[in-house]
Amino acid sequence: MAAQIFGLDIGRSFIKVVQVKISGSSRSLVAVGSAATPGAGLRSEVKPELKQLAETIKTLVKNSKIHSNKCTVSIVEAQAVTRLIELPNLTDKELSAAINFEADQYIPLPIKDVNLQYKVLSRPQPGSGGKMAVLLVAAPKRVIEKYLEVVKMSGFSLSAVETESSSLARALSNKNDPPSLIVSMGASSTELVLIKEGNVFFTRSIASGGAALTKAIMTEFNLASKQAEEYKMAYGILEDKLSGKISRILRPVLEVVTTEILKAIDYARSHMGDQRLSGVVICGGSAYLPGLAEFVTEKTSVEVSLGDPWANFAKEGLILKMPGQGSFYSIATGLALRT
Ligand SMILES: Nc1ncnc2c1ncn2[C@@H]1O[C@H](COP(=O)(O)OP(=O)(O)OP(=O)(O)O)[C@@H](O)[C@H]1O
Ligand SMILES: [Mg+2]
Repeated sequence: MAAQIFGLDIGRSFIKVVQVKISGSSRSLVAVGSAATPGAGLRSEVKPELKQLAETIKTLVKNSKIHSNKCTVSIVEAQAVTRLIELPNLTDKELSAAINFEADQYIPLPIKDVNLQYKVLSRPQPGSGGKMAVLLVAAPKRVIEKYLEVVKMSGFSLSAVETESSSLARALSNKNDPPSLIVSMGASSTELVLIKEGNVFFTRSIASGGAALTKAIMTEFNLASKQAEEYKMAYGILEDKLSGKISRILRPVLEVVTTEILKAIDYARSHMGDQRLSGVVICGGSAYLPGLAEFVTEKTSVEVSLGDPWANFAKEGLILKMPGQGSFYSIATGLALRT
């Protein structure tokens, strides 16, 4: 049977929806679709614009043949606070009683204004006197309320809200995999998510993505955005295209991201003991930029691959019609897989 929920990823430039079917260990794609985000999307504070966003979601869900009225959504990392903290080994009951007080020291927002979630990632050996590792995620209530309002206006109900990093971890990693760094590059931001044993270990959000690349081409060559977008997608950062003219403009913009990737790799090396980073997984719409994987490999000397949330899905039906497109739907797929 198809899952009772669908994943809804409301990006700055595209809205994506995914519904999956899970039976035992087998997974298949039931429905998938995307639509351009109208106006300022969720950034808008104007009611008619939010209404228009809700209408776009409603039409997209209908056109994508999703059979569910309930969705899960993700909020961008920049709007949440994710912290890995260490605490003395508490029982679940003790932790639940102490968490607000403990979180107060790590979350730079009043606890009463946030929705706080936590997950125990590891516990020490009994009697060792070691610490337990707990992942804290705090999202401002007013941010969650806005998602709730838009989803409600679209005629759906909201089953859960999580951060993009949690969706990405579910979509692109397994508990037994070695640690990896996910680089999710959208239009307006890039999220770095360090994953260990299938869990989020560290996150970082960079306020730059595909839109900054398009903007750089527009400014340099005095082009309209549509044309600049076409150049970007056709030539990317390949140096042998157009005598490297586009590449030369885009590479400096990407340096902001590669610098942060290098810092995250350093962090992984110093905080993950003897577990080695297996590689960098790029995903999101901007991961398709021609030459990006090679560029990141060259800058970091770490193996880079394009993330595919459908890699272990049954190769039948819809999936066969969308070769290589999974990366764009990574977050929506992770949301759809939430059980
Ligand atoms: N083939 C391609 N080459 C280069 N860039 C691409 C390609 N396809 C899509 N993009 C870029 O990907 C971006 C859209 O990706 P995505 O849908 O993941 O972003 P978003 O989720 O809407 O944005 P954000 O996550 O920042 O809110 C756009 O900037 C678009 O130009
Ligand atoms: Mg996105």
